[in-house]
Amino acid sequence: MEVLIRPTAEEVSLLGARILARSIQAKPNSVLGLATGRTPLRLYEELIRMHREEGLDFARVTTFNLDEYVGLAPDHAQSYHRYMWENLFRHVNIAPAAAHVPNGSAADLRAHCLEYEEAIRAAGGIDVQLLGLGSNGHIGFNEPTGSLNAPTWIKILSEKTLQDNAPLFATPEEQPRHVVTMGIGTILRSGHCVVLACGAKKSHAVKGLIEGPVTAMCPASALQLHPRVTVIVDEAAAARLDNREHYLWVEKHKLDWQQVSGGAPRG
Ligand code: F6R
Repeated sequence: MEVLIRPTAEEVSLLGARILARSIQAKPNSVLGLATGRTPLRLYEELIRMHREEGLDFARVTTFNLDEYVGLAPDHAQSYHRYMWENLFRHVNIAPAAAHVPNGSAADLRAHCLEYEEAIRAAGGIDVQLLGLGSNGHIGFNEPTGSLNAPTWIKILSEKTLQDNAPLFATPEEQPRHVVTMGIGTILRSGHCVVLACGAKKSHAVKGLIEGPVTAMCPASALQLHPRVTVIVDEAAAARLDNREHYLWVEKHKLDWQQVSGGAPRG
């Protein structure tokens, strides 16, 4: 695992954006896995800036989002479909048909999950998967105790996640309990996983992700089994890491081709 510690959330976001942008520049038909939530908002702003000012071209890019709430129509204010259109897609030149978000209001959700998984496969698999991190160690909406080899499926949110995200909903009744999410198995099949985590509230999960045992109690820890993972954290999120100095040492001694956001994309 490549662990990159940055002084501020701003630097975490800019570095994350640079990694995605490099993937698109190196492989214009990149397949990107995208996340929602508070963490990637600044990263998406930066991608939009790069598109406007530096010509970052999304014309041949395909994207697959990690998850969506069950029961929220795509145009619902809290749906992840709407989030992605407001915060990224409508500001760049991505082909609408190439921007995939699970449909939480599909008539047959189970069939939809199988189709989503198949669509990822048909696109050639995900080159770079962007991930946020839940304070309980979830990635996508794979909550503690879930399978570490699951495909895209319908999951039940934990009480902790409901609490963390409650401020985003007007009333508790409005907040869905169920989601469609890529599974840990789906995420582990992507070429490069890039995890962003900022703030002290994430420090426990960051510790579990990087230095804990591989356990379903911290689903993100399954990333330890993936051959190419970059974790970018700010100092607050890194506060519980025992091997902070080692990560700084490793970053300092990288060979040129090992430098962050270097390396050839798959395919
Ligand atoms: C969102 C997602 C979640 C979030 C996580 C962190 O698509 O899959 O795993 O990344 O809940 O959310 P924030 O960034 O709001 O702290």
